[in-house]
Amino acid sequence: MKRIGILTGGGDAPGLNAVIRAAVKTAVNEYQCQVFGVKDGYDGFLMDGGILPLGLEEVRGILARGGTILGAANRGNPFARKVFRRGKPITLDVSDEIVKKIHKQKLDALLVLGGDGTLHIAHELCQKGVPIIGVPKTIDNDIGGTEVTFGYDTALNIATEALDRLQTTAESHHRVMVVELMGRDAGFIALNAGISGGADVILIPEIPFKFEKILAKIHERAKRGRKFSIIAVSEGAKPAGGAQTFSRKGDEIYIPRLGGIGQVVAEYVERQGFESRVTVLGHIQRGGTPTAFDRVLATRYGSAAVRLAAQGKFDRMVALNGGVVTEISLAKATTHPKRVKLTDDAVVTARKIGIALGD
Ligand code: F6P
Repeated sequence: MKRIGILTGGGDAPGLNAVIRAAVKTAVNEYQCQVFGVKDGYDGFLMDGGILPLGLEEVRGILARGGTILGAANRGNPFARKVFRRGKPITLDVSDEIVKKIHKQKLDALLVLGGDGTLHIAHELCQKGVPIIGVPKTIDNDIGGTEVTFGYDTALNIATEALDRLQTTAESHHRVMVVELMGRDAGFIALNAGISGGADVILIPEIPFKFEKILAKIHERAKRGRKFSIIAVSEGAKPAGGAQTFSRKGDEIYIPRLGGIGQVVAEYVERQGFESRVTVLGHIQRGGTPTAFDRVLATRYGSAAVRLAAQGKFDRMVALNGGVVTEISLAKATTHPKRVKLTDDAVVTARKIGIALGD
């Protein structure tokens, strides 16, 4: 193994730079490899100057830095690249062009740091002969085959701090505070931030909710003299029999954007006579420095990915299993996305301690 490439695809997540640093250090120190960074996800293969050498000097001081020094792109699917031609959006399959570029670069391995979309593309590129190792990244924690993705712990801590801060102002003003959290179709951030931040109601995509159940909880607390309540709602949550709320519909270029369910819940609560405010935490959950947990996990994943490449085990993803870094096939990891299960201990515990889950 002489030459390794690294790219970061999809939305960014805290810990990307820690993975890059660990991979470069392991590749250089242990295997005397040359490492190359690919800019802006798969797009870097199509750009002039999109591939740059990554040595020990380039990764110095990036362990604690959020974002990605390589840049990311979440619209860069090489099999369905959406571009404008003469003002009109069209979809192109540029995967063969990318495969050619990868071979031209004589890469012996390509590390792909990404979420389900990016890793699914990675698996498809493997079918075309590209030697890829995946590293599971996302704040949503929704990738199958691994206990946890890097970036999730940081987002969870940021969301918890937001709930802590909302508690004090909610209590002062006797208000119902609704906080909308990220996670797409997985409720891990809202569920666990809700538990750690003392939410009274948690609404997640996996459990369609009834508005009356939210109201019942607020009433129950009011009767006990608790004139304020905290509602943690996942952006993908939806009412039973209803649909998810989007802030932007999808089109030829953009995928649909979840957002707005917090406002829907807050307006309902106000109509029932309880003053309410909504906070949408948004990309704050993705920005800034990773937690110690994410730095360690990202470092372990980055180093393990290079060791896997050295063994020639491609079309695989590094994963955490029972606290141990292992590996799983990319096909398996991307077939069944991870979701909160109703039997999960966190769900059972939330119910037992009196948190309303809206069902
Ligand atoms: O997948 C990570 C995530 O932050 C989701 O939680 C969220 O729905 C989405 O990305 C936001 O994407 P964008 O950065 O494109 O707005």
